[in-house]
Amino acid sequence: MTILAIESSCDETSAAVVSNGQVRSNVVATQLIHRLYGGVVPELASRAHQQHIVPVVAEALNDAKVAKKDLQAIAFTRGPGLLGALLVGTSFAKSLALGLDVPLIEVNHMQAHVLAHFIEAPRPQFPFLCLTVSGGHTQIVLVRDYLDMEIIGQTLDDAVGEAFDKTAKLMGLPYPGGPLIDRYAQAGNPLAFEFPLPEIPDLNYSFSGIKTSFMYFLQKKTKENPAFVEEQRDDICASIQHSLIHILLRKVRKAAQQTGIREIAIAGGVSANSGLRKALQDTGDKLGWTVHIPRFEYCTDNAAMIAMAAHYKYLQSDFTDQTVSPLARMVF
Ligand code: KG4
Ligand code: ZN
Repeated sequence: MTILAIESSCDETSAAVVSNGQVRSNVVATQLIHRLYGGVVPELASRAHQQHIVPVVAEALNDAKVAKKDLQAIAFTRGPGLLGALLVGTSFAKSLALGLDVPLIEVNHMQAHVLAHFIEAPRPQFPFLCLTVSGGHTQIVLVRDYLDMEIIGQTLDDAVGEAFDKTAKLMGLPYPGGPLIDRYAQAGNPLAFEFPLPEIPDLNYSFSGIKTSFMYFLQKKTKENPAFVEEQRDDICASIQHSLIHILLRKVRKAAQQTGIREIAIAGGVSANSGLRKALQDTGDKLGWTVHIPRFEYCTDNAAMIAMAAHYKYLQSDFTDQTVSPLARMVF
């Protein structure tokens, strides 16, 4: 059973081939144009997807040594994401499924981030908790089965990836700032500066307050010393990263305590953060958790995770029809 999957929810055009649950190829074209604008420009993202999608799909089929006639289903990200970007992948997938006369499978992007853990061993045991952290989402997901997931905590305002990117932007770093904060933080002192932590009830998060206090902090410090950011870059990055990770892990600990689950995973773009990966592993070692951290390439947006979700949906004959349209906001 061979499926082609397409991902186009944000600024990565990606295609992957999966056969019987084994990923055979995963091609990702990252749109660099957004760096010129300090963030993803939706209209430019749609245009770039349009340009990339045919060569990316061709390369994915070629890498997997699969011909179009061998495909038994076409999967695509239906949402959540940028509507114009999603339209490109959705329309392409619908046309291809129609042309090949094979079933169409819609995938929820956030559910797929969680299922990235099943691309390769060691795979988590059910039930497990997954901290899903990306540019648009921050969720604690209780995963009972491949397609049976419940969001038990989430951000009430900004996503943590947004907090990384916005604080980086305030420091004058280019987009996307998350990976740069990660890199500079490695040479800095995480306790150099302190930021107020939010007091949000339950398993929910908030990142707008820390972003604002970071802005005032930078304003005050650069007034005192205009070269502050330049001189203290690594310490600033290490300190803000330390605070963001602290906020994330505090609620993961609470969720583990409340549910009694000790199988803990992270997923999404921010799970590429080396500080978060290490902190989660250290916390897990202390508390007796089994920790699951995906390979870097499966943390940020990719079609291999969409293919994995499609594989499990195919097994349940969970198909969609040609009337489907993408959803900018999509829950599961
Ligand atoms: O999952 P993803 O690729 O796209 C969305 O679905 O949003 O996540 C992108 C986010 C961006 O905010 C980016 O800055 C962040 O993930 N990110 C990181 C790192 N790598 C990517 N944040 C912190 N440290 C990293 N190493
Ligand atoms: Zn994502």
